[in-house]
Amino acid sequence: MKEKIFAALLCAALLAGCSDDKPQNQRKGSRQYDMNALALGERVFQKNCAVCHGYTGEAKPGWQNPGPDGKLLPPPLDDNGRAWRLTGRQMKQFILQGSPAGRGNMPPWQGKLSEQELDAVVTWITSLWSDAIYMQWQSDVAQEQNMGTTGLTQDAAKGNL
Ligand code: HEC
Repeated sequence: MKEKIFAALLCAALLAGCSDDKPQNQRKGSRQYDMNALALGERVFQKNCAVCHGYTGEAKPGWQNPGPDGKLLPPPLDDNGRAWRLTGRQMKQFILQGSPAGRGNMPPWQGKLSEQELDAVVTWITSLWSDAIYMQWQSDVAQEQNMGTTGLTQDAAKGNL
């Protein structure tokens, strides 16, 4: 009896989940994303990252110039930035470590985000991109795997990352 009530409550709570057990996907351009991963990524981003990078990763005007302290300002993470030049693995590493000393004020997220949150936020960032940029990113990733080159940002290519 208890189980039945519990099952009924669970069904009520999940609603759509009970009537439709297909995975729930969300479309971005021609790509399909897992809705739950995207929702988690968005929550993590809005809570921790948006204050600097903007709510849709658009950055603040003038981000190209150094800030008053001479350090890099938060860049856009959408098509207009260069985050898509990083592989997913490099992006995760960068997020965990933050800015290399003296270069910018991106804080390190090591120990603050779970592995799942980190994956989800990177997934959400990739969802900001147009199909064209996304395809370019994928071919850069493939190139890295084939040739052992990195596709890093200019500074990172100089060994700063
Ligand atoms: C205090 C402001 C600040 C916060 C908060 C912040 N960032 Fe950053 N972020 C920066 C700055 C500044 C840079 C550029 C620093 C550099 O290159 O050394 C940057 C760079 C990046 C880059 C590399 C982009 C590129 O073009 O090379 C990624 C990816 C990134 N941030 C993701 C995130 C994510 C995800 C979060 C939240 C978990 C976050 N940032 C939170 C300031 C911030």
